[in-house]
Amino acid sequence: MEIKTLGVLGAGTMGHGIAQILVRSGYTVLLNDVSQQFLDSGAARIAKGLNRDVEKNRLTEEEREKALRRLTTTMRVSDLEAVDFIIEAVTENFEAKVGVLRAVEPHCGPGVILASNTSSISITRLAAATQRPDRFIGLHFFNPVPVMKLVEVVPGLATSAQTVEAAEGLATSAGKSPVRVNDAPGFISNRLLMPMINEAVYCLMEGVADAKGIDDVMKLGMNHPMGPLELADLIGLDVCLDIMRVLYEGFCDSKYRPCPLLEKMVNAGRLGRKTGQGFYGYR
Ligand code: 3HC
Repeated sequence: MEIKTLGVLGAGTMGHGIAQILVRSGYTVLLNDVSQQFLDSGAARIAKGLNRDVEKNRLTEEEREKALRRLTTTMRVSDLEAVDFIIEAVTENFEAKVGVLRAVEPHCGPGVILASNTSSISITRLAAATQRPDRFIGLHFFNPVPVMKLVEVVPGLATSAQTVEAAEGLATSAGKSPVRVNDAPGFISNRLLMPMINEAVYCLMEGVADAKGIDDVMKLGMNHPMGPLELADLIGLDVCLDIMRVLYEGFCDSKYRPCPLLEKMVNAGRLGRKTGQGFYGYR
């Protein structure tokens, strides 16, 4: 199938990043969110990201202007009638995602593929809540989207081979490296990453080392670009906790028990960079 125009639902950290790489790769994008303020903020972050590419000589000024002209923001879901492919990147909550998908679907033509950027919710379950489970797929991008190469491509139980092919082709043409992963709790990325972060929080709680010591071990000894606690602050501690709960409940296995300190931090509103305080301070 030919994809020229995409809808991106949600202008937050992931949504604006996805929209940015798509307009940069030549696609026309309609960025949709529930408030003009979110849309303006997402569009400003895209412009800033593209300016950075110009400063670094990765993009000419003319290419930047063309990319920006390919971006339109809208609060009206009916505007999505014009798109060939939709990527949902709203709040990581089943009801919120299904609400948005059901609002949008009546405006989509029969051939339109719906993709979700969920980091942990079952693709099969989300797909079953739509009228097109065969044209539904997971496209899991990583933060910061313009920098990270990986996209996990996650077919649900009913996803068709054509849908998988179209989604992989899209990810590749947007400069990413798709890896196909079956629908299982946490997929591969978060099944491996989150238990490491959770264990780092246990080490902190038990006083094995302080936050900097734990992060330094993984940076200096394992060549990780960020330590697990810094990374948790970047991802958001609420997101990390939600994913640990998905693993714990999905596998019914105590090895995924969320660390009590992680729960305490979330209860205190210390969610990481986005609130100015997590394992480190950002004010
Ligand atoms: N948005 C866009 N670009 C960013 C960015 C951001 N938030 N943060 C950094 N960058 C860019 C910088 O602009 C710079 O690009 P440029 O100089 O070429 O223009 C480049 O990334 C490198 O940045 P810095 O030199 O400032 O810093 P580092 O070299 O330390 O790299 C990093 C920063 C890329 C964030 C690196 O530390 C890293 O790769 N960290 C690990 C990130 C990671 O693991 N992400 C996955 C999270 S898990 C996830 O998203 C899944 C979800 O389901 C939870």
